[in-house]
Amino acid sequence: MTFKILVLPGDGIGVEIMAEATKVLDVLRRDFGLDLETIEGYLVGGAAIDAFGNPLPEETLLAARAADAVLLGAVGGPKWEGLAYEVRPERGLLGLRAELGLFANLRPAVLYPQLSDASTLRKEVVAGLDLMIIRELTGGLYFGQPRGRRTLANGEQQAFNTLVYSESEIERIGRVAFEIARKRKKKVCSVDKANVLECTELWREVMIRVHQDYPDVALSHMYVDNAAMQLVRWPLQFDVMVTENMFGDILSDAAAMLTGSIGMLPSASLDAHGKGMYEPIHGSAPDIAGKGLANPIATILSVAMMLRYTLNMPAMAEHVEKSVESVLDADLRTRDIYTENHRQVSTGEMGDAIVTALRSRK
Ligand code: IPM
Ligand code: MG
Repeated sequence: MTFKILVLPGDGIGVEIMAEATKVLDVLRRDFGLDLETIEGYLVGGAAIDAFGNPLPEETLLAARAADAVLLGAVGGPKWEGLAYEVRPERGLLGLRAELGLFANLRPAVLYPQLSDASTLRKEVVAGLDLMIIRELTGGLYFGQPRGRRTLANGEQQAFNTLVYSESEIERIGRVAFEIARKRKKKVCSVDKANVLECTELWREVMIRVHQDYPDVALSHMYVDNAAMQLVRWPLQFDVMVTENMFGDILSDAAAMLTGSIGMLPSASLDAHGKGMYEPIHGSAPDIAGKGLANPIATILSVAMMLRYTLNMPAMAEHVEKSVESVLDADLRTRDIYTENHRQVSTGEMGDAIVTALRSRK
């Protein structure tokens, strides 16, 4: 069976980092004999707005539905910032998540020992960091209805969003968290605001109920404000964190920075059947686009996550991950992770070095 991978570079540095990830896919196909096909040429985000006036054209959505996995670069840029909310580049991303039912967002934050100097936190606080944030991705505050704006009787504008979850939505993300914890250190911290919000009170109740099926995993609960504090105070206490969509958006950015550079971190967004969209956590970085300064590692590690979670090929995923580590060992650094006494390389040079390392592992 041929795996069909839709490659969507998107905007800004998305284009150049995806070129490097595609090199990795080529090696997997040619040298490792992986039966995969890449589908290219479709647009999403700002590029799609420019071409079709729509951040998620129907043909892109159809191609995404037909594929086994989607590899996405990044969307957005100042050029499209003034546009109406429904036609901003970000809607392309949110539309893909919702339409494909990608409710489980896995955001690992791993500190590579080679980069322990790049973190803004002291080495002893972050050394050995390996945590997994599991963010609910198709519900909660981002998608809750009703939402919108209205004009009050006195002429004043009012705007509103809704934080809403049903039991089944909480249960399925809870199960993902417990299953993943089983393959790790068997600890889940569920993050909520159950002292204030009914919705997350229900969240906590359901987590406790689902936990009964996973007695081998330890479950703890934390309020989101405390979780933000604990992430920078003592991040090593966490193994798996599971949380609401917007809480997860915020906490995962904080967690990313513990590792030194957001340019290192991949993510997976999965549906109920293992189909997924894989993308770096960072954005389109329009300020450095086209200059060869972007770090392709987050996207290449997203390929590794795809091998692991959609293609079920953990050994192959490890080949990619080890190849990344070996170029770090060889002191190659893109600008975002450069510290003294290392060699600064361009986006393309980093990609090439990883590809060479990968080939040598065959
Ligand atoms: C993320 C991003 C997106 C989000 C934006 C680009 C819509 O911040 O993937 O974390 O808020 O989910
Ligand atoms: Mg975010």
